[in-house]
Amino acid sequence: MTLYGVGLGPGESDLVTVRGKRVLENADVVYSPGRLSRSVALEHVPEERIGDLEFPMTRDEETLRTAWKAAAAEIAPNAREGDVAFVTLGDPNVYSTFGHLRRTLEAFHPDVDLEIVPGVSAVTAFATALGVEIEAGAGLSLREAADGTAPTGPDRMILFKVTDAPATHEGLLDAGYDVTYGRRLFMEQGETLVTDDPSELADRDYYTLAYAERRDLEVESATAVFTQDGDSAVDPNDDESASDDERE
Ligand SMILES: C[S@@+](CC[C@H](N)C(=O)[O-])C[C@H]1O[C@@H](n2cnc3c(N)ncnc32)[C@H](O)[C@@H]1O
Repeated sequence: MTLYGVGLGPGESDLVTVRGKRVLENADVVYSPGRLSRSVALEHVPEERIGDLEFPMTRDEETLRTAWKAAAAEIAPNAREGDVAFVTLGDPNVYSTFGHLRRTLEAFHPDVDLEIVPGVSAVTAFATALGVEIEAGAGLSLREAADGTAPTGPDRMILFKVTDAPATHEGLLDAGYDVTYGRRLFMEQGETLVTDDPSELADRDYYTLAYAERRDLEVESATAVFTQDGDSAVDPNDDESASDDERE
């Protein structure tokens, strides 16, 4: 049978995909690595089917390896006998704890079948929440900005783990970026906040990201040339060289 890594999306229970919901409903046991993913899973699965796993709050690599070995040893027999799910917020393959489990299973229980159900990642959900468009052709980089760090370089960046927004903000401003922050986007737990003022985010909250865009960035898009009277409008559907797929 199978272990499913199920992405739950950013935190609102109706942003779980149809496939993810079906897998959760059919799984014999559903494991979660934390309180938030557990509470989203509970919207789709009765509590008696939620499995228990212990994860220490540490960055010590040896302690983490031991904890993931124990988690894999608990999950593997159940995944051989039936279908089980391991849920994570967002997508299981993006900055996710699921990677630890997958690697540990591959090392110690390679016979367990794995299948992944993608989820709505904060990497994409941020755009709607912050009212940003990443237009076709634009580059977009994902970085981590924990503890006040401010990575720079690309024209556009999504920064995860913004735990000291005022310090990160200073670095980004100096490097020539405009920055918008999003906290607890599409999450049922806690208050959603979208702001470009880092002082509103002075308290640490792990579920905070930033979108940084170079101040002098020029956007090149066919419809960016629309004028108020519509004179220079270009209809992308008039591009006969574009296939149907390219218009999606
Ligand atoms: C370890 S990563 C997990 C990413 C997740 N697997 C995904 O695909 O969205 C955690 C970081 O993602 C960002 N994040 C995830 N969900 C978020 C949300 N709902 N609102 C704001 N930031 C979020 C935060 O920067 C947080 O520190």
